Amino acid sequence: MNILFVTPECAPYVKTGGLGDVSAALPATLAALGHDVHVLMPAYQGVKVEGEIGAGVDLPPWGPWPAAHLVPVKVDSGVTMLLLTCPSLYQRPGGPYVDASGRDHHDNAIRFGLLARIAAQLGTAQSPLRGWVADVVHANDWPCGLAPLYLAQSRLASPRETTAASVMTIHNLAFQGTFDMWTADPLGVPGHWRGIDGVEFWGQLSMLKAGIQFADAITTVSPTYAREIQTQEHGIGFDGILRARSARLRGILNGIDPKVWDPARDALLPHRFSRDDLQGKAACKAALQARVGLKAEAGAMLFAVVSRITPQKGIDLVLENLPRLVASGAQLVVLGQGEPALQQALRDAAEQYPKQVAVTVGFDEGLAHLIEAGADAFLMPSRFEPCGLNQMYSQAYGTPPIVAPVGGLLDSVTDASADPARGTGFVMTGADSEGLADALARAQRAWREPRQWQRIQANAMARHFGWEDSARQYLEVYRRAAVEAGRGTAGGL
Ligand code: ADP
Ligand code: GLC
Repeated sequence: MNILFVTPECAPYVKTGGLGDVSAALPATLAALGHDVHVLMPAYQGVKVEGEIGAGVDLPPWGPWPAAHLVPVKVDSGVTMLLLTCPSLYQRPGGPYVDASGRDHHDNAIRFGLLARIAAQLGTAQSPLRGWVADVVHANDWPCGLAPLYLAQSRLASPRETTAASVMTIHNLAFQGTFDMWTADPLGVPGHWRGIDGVEFWGQLSMLKAGIQFADAITTVSPTYAREIQTQEHGIGFDGILRARSARLRGILNGIDPKVWDPARDALLPHRFSRDDLQGKAACKAALQARVGLKAEAGAMLFAVVSRITPQKGIDLVLENLPRLVASGAQLVVLGQGEPALQQALRDAAEQYPKQVAVTVGFDEGLAHLIEAGADAFLMPSRFEPCGLNQMYSQAYGTPPIVAPVGGLLDSVTDASADPARGTGFVMTGADSEGLADALARAQRAWREPRQWQRIQANAMARHFGWEDSARQYLEVYRRAAVEAGRGTAGGL
């Protein structure tokens, strides 16, 4: 199958969160299963991709978009990275979504509109890559949401030509890609699709809604989140349309990439370890304490957070529980960046308890790995969590996670109190402060019983979070989407 995976971020080139990891691992797994996978991503400032560079293609200016250029680079994983080059839109300071001061780039509608436009074109007879047309265009999150709409538009305009099937994956429903409705003009959204059955969301244009409405299939990153987002409580205004399209919606759990996240081979760790020999883990704890300036104490239980610092992640719940945690002699290490007020509250806590609380504000891949390896337990009290990857990484690193009972966290952690023989972590009774307090107390009690703790660690490290099963489920979704798009049979393309 010719698969076009379109994404605003892809590790290791550019990553702000889990989508970056997924955009690296899922396409590589699909390629290993024998498919021809192209990953389309903007060439942001500083992005360097090493590999075999193919012939570039000029894309003429069109509508609001300046001339651009597409450069294919075949990389080691067997995937072809398609870099969408357009200096005036993508070569600037800041991240994929925000400028250097943390505000959304003012022209995101146009920046990501171009990404979606080119993705859709790659799925039609007008594909700019000569000889390569996608069978399926897999769009990820709101920045790619217009791609299914543009494909639907092409299908209507040229019903006799084949057009790729479209799949929309929701990695986080909270990011809806809303813009003033006047952007529908330059983006070329037809008038009859600007209403409530089209892209309209509270009077604005929502790119995510475009994806949900027009995709042949919709997925999200865990089965539980697929159910949650169809309820009023978690649907953030989208539950109605998701219920209406429920037959096309499916949850597929993310996996982890063992080439990047395996404590026995992790080149970013000072000491490596495995389920059969955890000595290196104790050495990593000492190295972590030294690196972040915590008191060098093997006997202090070390809790960890690696996260975007936003209300989603329940950081305020950690802060509320901190005085009791510190009083019990425990330590906390935090790595993250995000909302200024929460960041400041964390920094204040580190100042108040310098030997027991260490906070690093920033993005640091190496430190993230050392924390997963060196901590005793990992905290993820998220208010909602589409999938979550850190709770999987921490299980692989023998660092039992403490998680809220939501989304992908429920699908990937087994509570050790409810199921002592198979438990891999601790599931909070509620996604609130009391729920966290209770789970912290249970974890601390278990940690004081080495045999009990070692069993939880061993269970966690034995748990398999492979990508292959998930990739096969995506292939099924692609095939079904092709049938919906009128271009295949249930047996395959
Ligand atoms: P989300 O995508 O909602 O941020 P996930 O748990 O799916 O949450 O993925 C987060 C990814 O980003 C993980 O790979 C995690 O290690 C990484 N990450 C988050 N914050 C940082 C940071 N400050 N430094 C390094 N890595 C980070
Ligand atoms: C989003 C979600 C996270 C998920 C990631 C990758 O950022 O917040 O839960 O793991 O996407 O799918």
